[in-house]
Amino acid sequence: MMTKSFSVVIAGGGSTFTPGIVLMLLDNLDQFPIRKLKLYDNDKERQDKIAGACEIFIHEKAPEIEFLATDDPEQAFTDVDFVMAHIRVGKYAMRELDEKIPLKYGVVGQETCGPGGIAYGMRSIGGVLEIIDYMEKYSPDAWMLNYSNPAAIVAEATRRLRPDSKVLNICDMPVGIEDRMAEIAGLSSRKEMKVRYYGLNHFGWWTEIQDSEGNDLMPVLKKHIKEFGYTPNANHHPTEKSWNDTFTKARDVYATDPDVLPNTYLQYYFFPQQMAKKSNPDFTRANEVMAGREAFIFSQCQKIVEEGSSKNSEIEIDDHASYIVDLARAIAYNTGERMLLIVENNGAIENFDSTAMVEIPCIVGSNGPEPLAVGKIPQFQKGLMEQQVSVEKLVVEAWVEKSSQKLWQAIILSKTVPGADVAKAILEDLIEANREYWPQLEEKPLQPII
Ligand code: NAD
Ligand code: G6P
Ligand code: MN
Repeated sequence: MMTKSFSVVIAGGGSTFTPGIVLMLLDNLDQFPIRKLKLYDNDKERQDKIAGACEIFIHEKAPEIEFLATDDPEQAFTDVDFVMAHIRVGKYAMRELDEKIPLKYGVVGQETCGPGGIAYGMRSIGGVLEIIDYMEKYSPDAWMLNYSNPAAIVAEATRRLRPDSKVLNICDMPVGIEDRMAEIAGLSSRKEMKVRYYGLNHFGWWTEIQDSEGNDLMPVLKKHIKEFGYTPNANHHPTEKSWNDTFTKARDVYATDPDVLPNTYLQYYFFPQQMAKKSNPDFTRANEVMAGREAFIFSQCQKIVEEGSSKNSEIEIDDHASYIVDLARAIAYNTGERMLLIVENNGAIENFDSTAMVEIPCIVGSNGPEPLAVGKIPQFQKGLMEQQVSVEKLVVEAWVEKSSQKLWQAIILSKTVPGADVAKAILEDLIEANREYWPQLEEKPLQPII
């Protein structure tokens, strides 16, 4: 019998994901009872549009829950047990530039990978730290479940700058891929699988996958992925074209090491020229999302508010976000759930930097995550991860020291970038575009290239 019920604040309340997550929380109240649900955003106008619809969902499905939407940190963060954070500093307008600036130079233009991800990281660090600080000021016992991107850089910043804070960094990509694996293997849920996985965020590999009886599912999955990637079957494309291309491309990514199954994000590091070439520099993923998910969610929310009812709403429960409830439950009820989290390596990967933030299986309970031992990893993955983790650490160093030199080094080191000259040209454009959001970098100009 669950007696306690929880107070939750969603930070980044104006996010396109908020209505689906609120519906998911309302659908899981038997698992995770909620007494108070708040939305917090620093853009009140944007959040109010989403909040109007969320208030109606709550009124219809669980009127006993106290609801509040605010841009006031004290109101938002006082008396909360969990902060669920999904902020996007600079919003889609800046994501668009993160994607388009590198593409001007023939380099991958991506939200979290390459120079775009680095630029986004420089914006996100301050925003996420601010939310941690509000939480600790107004609700010092609360936990923050953070899925704000770029999670790898944000996680390294929390490790370095808020080492004692109760923050759990998590990504939904492994969950999404595991859903597909379960379908491919003929299981009804990914929860019937037990996995071993290691890597960095958006940069990892599955080494073992078993069903609940301990049968090895790797052979059947490998056979399928070698031919179709993570697309369940060749004629069935259940998502947008750009995502479907990504799931199919996993086939080529898999070929680089057929012993393991890759995270789809590795496509940007193994095939950077191809990825850049097939992008439309005038219409990138940010444009697709603005014209698609964002327009849809905001128009639906407006309709719900105008009708004063959600009966004609097409917004779906974000079932796939139920991993957030699993995580909150693990902390709240000490469930010992096994989940992939982004945590300090600390010896879990034996032959890898102990201070790196790695994505690995953890047992999660009331005291937080207990990472499982991974052991030694092969030279190929180790080399790739050392390069990528250096990018992530250099971005955080650049942010702390306000160093354009270190930021240039971070971009040079990214496997998506062909040379220091291209890195410099991209950096100069990014500095210009991000003036409002990055810390003011030291004045010392980088030396011109001959
Ligand atoms: P969005 O732009 O729709 O929403 C983000 C919201 O954050 C906006 O309403 C914005 O005003 C707000 N915001 C920005 N800076 C803020 C600050 N300093 N304080 C408070 N609020 C702030 O974006 P979205 O597409 O819905 O994505 C939200 C976030 O979730 C992004 O970081 C995205 O990358 C991330 N995300 C992560 C995962 C994952 O697996 N880790 C999955 C999906 C989305
Ligand atoms: C996955 C990743 C997230 C990323 C999102 C982008 O869910 O795990 O980290 O933010 O994809 O999706 P979008 O639809 O915004 O391009
Ligand atoms: Mn992610």
